[in-house]
Amino acid sequence: MLDEIKSLENHIIGEVNAADSLEALDAVRVAALGKKGRITALMKNMGTFTPEERKEFGPLLNGLKNQIADILTARKDALEASALNTRLASETIDVTLPGIPRRDGTIHPISQVMDEIAEIFANMGFDVAEGPDLEDDFHNFSALNIPPEHPARQDHDTFYLKPDASGERKVLRTHTSPVQIRTMMSEEPPIRIIAPGRTYRSDSDATHTPMFHQVEGLVIDKETHLGHLKGTLEAFLKAFFEVDAVKIRLRSSYFPFTEPSMEVDVQCSFEGGALKIGEGSDWLEILGCGMVNRKVLEACNLDPSIYQGFAFGCGIDRLAMLKYGMNDLRAFFDSDQRWLKHYGFSPLNLPTLAGGLSR
Ligand code: DAH
Repeated sequence: MLDEIKSLENHIIGEVNAADSLEALDAVRVAALGKKGRITALMKNMGTFTPEERKEFGPLLNGLKNQIADILTARKDALEASALNTRLASETIDVTLPGIPRRDGTIHPISQVMDEIAEIFANMGFDVAEGPDLEDDFHNFSALNIPPEHPARQDHDTFYLKPDASGERKVLRTHTSPVQIRTMMSEEPPIRIIAPGRTYRSDSDATHTPMFHQVEGLVIDKETHLGHLKGTLEAFLKAFFEVDAVKIRLRSSYFPFTEPSMEVDVQCSFEGGALKIGEGSDWLEILGCGMVNRKVLEACNLDPSIYQGFAFGCGIDRLAMLKYGMNDLRAFFDSDQRWLKHYGFSPLNLPTLAGGLSR
């Protein structure tokens, strides 16, 4: 009996060590300790033993059972650990590998429209000019012929900063027109620039956000006249809306920095709920413009008896909404991935006049 127990012990230990999978190990467990297992069978057999034999072999068999149970558990833990290690090794991420490009990013419609505008005007010989978002009173208002008491100041719902040590209150620029002033003061005519950028007014609804975008245009030369202004705007709108022809209407208006001043309407149709530019019998107001007021030229130290020119200002967000059919401006600034994916543009298709502005 003693020999039998000893050889069973060696046999089972050999089997446990040989089991190279959790399934194989479980089969060893069942064959040893299961209902019909060999150790179980020996223990069942104890009923036939004499009391002396039971005293001698009982503890031995119990010891064998516990020992086998322990080495089964140890082997199981080892197999599980090695299975985990194999899995971890196969799922290792090599962080030094170059990334796989996921072309999820898109160009925001506003950036797209800014690029389209820059492309169109670059083809007409315009440079892109910039100015700061944080402006002083001179550039944003007074040099543009909007003195402190001027009612146009109230129209602008201006964000003012706290006064600095000298008592000066900076403003978040309410339009891109201050870039006109900066350009005229730093460059010699002839000047041909557009200035796209952020602008700010305390206003918020479906078509107004406190931060929005404008593009300013400025041409200063010796013989620039209203015909040039009209031709430039027609060429711009035709190219921008990607149509063969547009009809525009100049309506008399008022801006302190231009004289005469006009608002420009573009011919359009709203038939069937879809906006079409360049056809139909409706008119859509699209921008403000005029011949640069001589007071503005004087504020920039340009002699109005020598130089004259035109300027225009246009809301970029509105242009984007019209061209790409978006009706709530606030969604532009929500950073909603679904919206960006739907309305965004491919970063690989730069707008060109030759290849198409929007593809
Ligand atoms: N600055 C004007 C605004 O924000 C827009 C504008 C109108 C700009 C006429 C101009 C212009 O340069 O000539 O409402």
